[in-house]
Amino acid sequence: MEILHVSAECYPMAKAGGLADVVGALPKYQQQLGHYAKVVMPMHRTKFLYENEWEVAHKGNFTMGSMNFDFTIIKEKGNKLGFDLYCVDIYGLLDREKIYSYDDDTERFTAFQLAVLEWIAQWEHRPDIVHVHDHHAGLIPFMMRYCFKYQHLAGIRTVLTIHNAQYQGWMGWDKVSYLPSWDTWKWGLLDWDNTINPLASAIKCADKVNTVSPGYMQELMHEANGLESLFNYEMGKCSGIINGIDYAVWDPEIDTYILDNYGVKDCRHGKALNKKQLCDRFGFDIKYPLIIFIGRLVHEKAADLLPESFNRAFHDLPKKFSCLVLGSGEKSVEKALVNLQGNWVGYYNTQIDYNEKLSHQMYAGADFILMPSRVEPCGLNQLYSMRYGTVPVVRRTGGLRDTVIDFGDEGGYGICFNNASVDDIVYSIDRATRLYEDKQKMDEIRERMMQINNSWESSAQKYIDLYNSILH
Ligand code: GLC
Repeated sequence: MEILHVSAECYPMAKAGGLADVVGALPKYQQQLGHYAKVVMPMHRTKFLYENEWEVAHKGNFTMGSMNFDFTIIKEKGNKLGFDLYCVDIYGLLDREKIYSYDDDTERFTAFQLAVLEWIAQWEHRPDIVHVHDHHAGLIPFMMRYCFKYQHLAGIRTVLTIHNAQYQGWMGWDKVSYLPSWDTWKWGLLDWDNTINPLASAIKCADKVNTVSPGYMQELMHEANGLESLFNYEMGKCSGIINGIDYAVWDPEIDTYILDNYGVKDCRHGKALNKKQLCDRFGFDIKYPLIIFIGRLVHEKAADLLPESFNRAFHDLPKKFSCLVLGSGEKSVEKALVNLQGNWVGYYNTQIDYNEKLSHQMYAGADFILMPSRVEPCGLNQLYSMRYGTVPVVRRTGGLRDTVIDFGDEGGYGICFNNASVDDIVYSIDRATRLYEDKQKMDEIRERMMQINNSWESSAQKYIDLYNSILH
């Protein structure tokens, strides 16, 4: 079957978070299962754009309110990703360096979606599935069905995957003229709480809706940033499919970002070599356990709790450890984490950055990774860590609950806690530093984790099954 994924991000073209990793991998595995999967995304001005060759696939234009836009769809020529990657270029609107956080994001992503529909509308054939990811593509299922000019696309099945329900793309009704003329009886399918809510609209209009773990789907019924009752109402078409990880990118045996490759058999030795390099670089003592945090420094990830938690753990806990944070986000959190550095020289460092290479080196060299998230739809970092033999220390929420078993339980390999609180984090760091002293247990846990199969194969098939359930 033919599947068109529509997304704001796709690794390695442009990445802000896990969404990019999923959209950069799932289509490749769908191809391997014998399907034709492709991705369309905005043409952000990234390194990947300039380093690769592109050809023009389509040119068109559309109006959005009173504005006219020309757009070009370009296609990557070298099949670098293992599937066809298309980017929408709209001069002055999409060709920017950052993916999000501009004042005109509403205009940017609405225009992106209009261009995608204009493009599909020109195809001589129809794809079997249009698969939209998050709110940035959330108006597409509605527009395909109820905008008069796209009515011939109404029969195409649509799937929405929610990677994060916190962000919904809200836009005032004053912007409704951005949508080409539509069946106004259907206004309720755009609305939630008196605003146009693209995520809610996609939940209402898509044929199937899924989130990236079964646990998160359950949580959304009770906590969904205002959409709880909608999820309860639409429960019948909602499900959870856990993300996989791309073994071509995340494998310590072949990873080109790390200096010493290793596998399950030489894991203790291999990790020690990688740890040494990290410790030398940041001035840490290799004999202490190394705990890392990687991710956006935002409330959702409970990054605001890190400064006090580390400070208290360094002060109060009987055993020593070192700690390295990589990420960027809220300025106050960044500042508090950087300030911490002065107090704990030789034990603590913050890298305010997005750095793919360093992140691989950290997964390889660390002993533990901390993920105290308040919200975690799936979480990929714990899966990467497990693959690299790094013990996940996680709050029991969403996908973290679904993928990590506490080492105190049968078959376990991680450290789990219940509350996103300083107390729980400090207590878990204490458990980690004690576990670290039991070398035999650490070896056993690492070996167990590294052998768990979290690859995309089975989840990619689950998406195909989901599509089949609406096609036949
Ligand atoms: C978002 C979620 C994360 C998930 C990722 C990919 O970034 O916050 O939990 O793993 O999307 O689905």
